[in-house]
Amino acid sequence: MPGSDRAVLLLKSDFGRDPQWLEAFAGLMPDLEVRIWPKTGNPREIEYALLWAPPADLFDGLDRLQVIFSVGAGVDTLLECPALPAQVPIVRMVEPELTAGMVGYVLYQVLRFHRRMHRYQQQQQRRQWQELPQVPASQTTVGIMGMGVLGSKLATQLRVLDYGVIGWSRTAKAMDGVRMFAGERALAKFLGQSDILVVLLPLTGQTRYIINRETLAALPRGAFLVNVGRGGLVNEADLVAALDSGQVEAAALDVFEVEPLPPNHLFWQHPAVTLTPHVASITHPPTAARFVAQGIARQRAGQPLPYLVDRVRGY
Ligand code: NDP
Ligand code: OXD
Repeated sequence: MPGSDRAVLLLKSDFGRDPQWLEAFAGLMPDLEVRIWPKTGNPREIEYALLWAPPADLFDGLDRLQVIFSVGAGVDTLLECPALPAQVPIVRMVEPELTAGMVGYVLYQVLRFHRRMHRYQQQQQRRQWQELPQVPASQTTVGIMGMGVLGSKLATQLRVLDYGVIGWSRTAKAMDGVRMFAGERALAKFLGQSDILVVLLPLTGQTRYIINRETLAALPRGAFLVNVGRGGLVNEADLVAALDSGQVEAAALDVFEVEPLPPNHLFWQHPAVTLTPHVASITHPPTAARFVAQGIARQRAGQPLPYLVDRVRGY
């Protein structure tokens, strides 16, 4: 409310974590009233919204909305909403536990593939005692597509484990110990050196189906794929073909074009696919509420908001 410390935030967080959000906000901002959608109350009282995949009618009557915070780091489902108010700034989620969760998940998958744990697991089922060739981490290159908040933190941790790390982003950047590539023209060169390809891009008009027959063919034969960005980044039929031909030895997939993954989808049974149900990293309400509270404080003090989404770029 103008002139007072009270404020009202509308929450649609999904995933059953509303009690944790309420507890976190109560501790951090006692003057913040959190209303759980669809119990919006008087929509003209809502100044802030914290949302995951909002339906169009959520925005009905929210005439005094000041900031939309995204529950997730990815904002593709938010930007798809046809009723998204045009002038309201959108802040994507950047919080330490979300970053740590992603780094942990991808390190696990990289180590699993690099140390051939997927093959040893198959050998165990066959009671087969057989040593496989071991390549040092320093001779294994991990290519990270998307060198933003998550990709750059991952790169740092992979370097600690002595992996060769290369990164690809839209704009040119520099990072100690990491060879960087930028833009479409550098993509084939980047892919050609990626023994393990980690996809950590946002889903945008530019990146949809960026993993396809052509880009998969540009990888070294027998490469590995870890997709933790979004399912729509990958042409799934092309990936199955690349796995079947051995061009890609194995894939770890956390995100899918259709979620939940339909029961009859090929990936469930594919011997070269390990999948998880979009859990690579999860927004942690205690730390994420702190990020939102800081954003609200900045907005109320007339200061610029960090991590604003550029709607034209799509991330
Ligand atoms: P950031 O916005 O910080 O980083 C995005 C990176 O992608 C940037 O380096 C950006 O380049 C690059 N990029 C965007 N478009 C292109 C393009 N056309 N060509 C080349 N590079 C491009 O995002 P985060 O690191 O925070 O998150 C990345 C994604 O991870 C999210 O959008 C989400 O989809 C996914 N995610 C998945 C989760 C899961 O559980 N599976 C959990 C959290 C996030 P530049 O630096 O030049 O702008
Ligand atoms: C996110 C996600 O974008 O959970 O944060 O996928």
